Amino acid sequence: MLNTSVAGINFKSCVMNAAVPKALDLESLKVLTNSQSSAVLIKSCTVDARPGNEEPRYIEEANLTLNSIGLANFGYKVYLDYVKELSELTDKPLFISVSGFNVDEYVEIVKAFQASDVALIELNLSCPNVNYGVVMGYDVQLIKELLTAVSGLGEKPIGVKLPPYLNVNLQKEVADCLNQTEVDFITTINTLGGGLLIDAEKEMVKMKAGNGFGGVAGDAVKPIALGNVRRFFQWCPQIPIIGVGGISSGVDVFEFILAGASLVQIGSCFMREDIDCFQRINQEFQQIVDQKGYRSLDDFKGKLQLYS
Ligand code: DHB
Repeated sequence: MLNTSVAGINFKSCVMNAAVPKALDLESLKVLTNSQSSAVLIKSCTVDARPGNEEPRYIEEANLTLNSIGLANFGYKVYLDYVKELSELTDKPLFISVSGFNVDEYVEIVKAFQASDVALIELNLSCPNVNYGVVMGYDVQLIKELLTAVSGLGEKPIGVKLPPYLNVNLQKEVADCLNQTEVDFITTINTLGGGLLIDAEKEMVKMKAGNGFGGVAGDAVKPIALGNVRRFFQWCPQIPIIGVGGISSGVDVFEFILAGASLVQIGSCFMREDIDCFQRINQEFQQIVDQKGYRSLDDFKGKLQLYS
């Protein structure tokens, strides 16, 4: 299997889990340590425990999912204990995803995990389902303030999980901002916020949480994810990229690496297929790599060609 590295951390394959509801309780995380996911990422924790939104809060359709979990989690201190336990079970790099409602909360949580056994810290700047849908990653000043506040708290690499940018001017401003700060990796994209699914027969929204509104993910968002990966790869050449959004096959992984990702995360497909997806996707990806005769990721990473 082709290995990869992000911010100096090595991964045995290019495929790992994304921050999905299944990556939150200790049993599921233990199962992930025994899977072919090359890392174990724990879904976003906050300072205080949160029950999250009322069910239904996760909907699966043919080619997309909609969610408004509302950052359900047990509070970050519980995950410090989980990390201790998980690190004894596995050599895989552990990621913690961190969410705060203000800069001070991010600082409190990052400080705690800098002194833990996680390998990397992913700052979630893009949950669309709390705070009336206000997303930190759409505010360049806030990004700058946050990254300045969390730098110097420890040695572990810190990355940002960004929302999808449909406004290319804003994406360029964010890219410039990231180039001026000490961010160690970019994870892109989070869900497309503000989606709505309707049951025409009942004339009703399909999801109770969020009054029906939520983040759209799955196959349908793949072109937006690829576009966001490619732009950041071009504009932030020094920052490794973790691609996420609509990946469910080896071909999808290959496309994301061509676009410039160093590693990819599997969200909706992991929710649908459970941990078996990692083995299948790794196998499909390896087959493509072998057929093409590539020996390392650098043989094709970012080398997407223009139409000719
Ligand atoms: C939730 C959804 C997201 O897309 C995200 O990045 C973080 C949290 C949620 O609803 O819990």
